[in-house]
Amino acid sequence: MPASITAEVAESLLASARQAAENAYVPYSRFPVGAAVLTSDGSIVTGANVENASYPLSVCAERVTLGTAAAAGHRHIRAIAVTAPRVAVVTPCGGCRQVINEFRMPDGTVDVILEGEHGPEILSLDDLLPRAFGPRDLE
Ligand code: THU
Repeated sequence: MPASITAEVAESLLASARQAAENAYVPYSRFPVGAAVLTSDGSIVTGANVENASYPLSVCAERVTLGTAAAAGHRHIRAIAVTAPRVAVVTPCGGCRQVINEFRMPDGTVDVILEGEHGPEILSLDDLLPRAFGPRDLE
């Protein structure tokens, strides 16, 4: 599926994600991650990973961000940018790929924006999570 957003929008979402990473709560891993989503109505929602002394309760940046957007009433996202300042590129974990899948646009698109060597790398979620199980399977 072709990318539905421009390189300019992708870069601006990555910039929001980089800023969000500054608020990551990561006393255990010391591995900050930031995320930013572009919703169907053009809003930008950001978040960062939030860890816990009971380690498995830690929440990834993507899930914090998608949960924040959903709780604000957003149901569809055009794109999500993810960045981790300590490494050149980070890609969403398997669990977060499934949660991104939940909030695809009605036409099924959702772009995942990563840090690329020469600017943002724009992928389709289908590249990262082929043949996903999602809301439509329960209809
Ligand atoms: N983490 C994220 O927030 N997103 C990712 O895509 C990869 C991993 C977090 C989880 C944990 O707080 C830290 O990075 C180290 O795994």
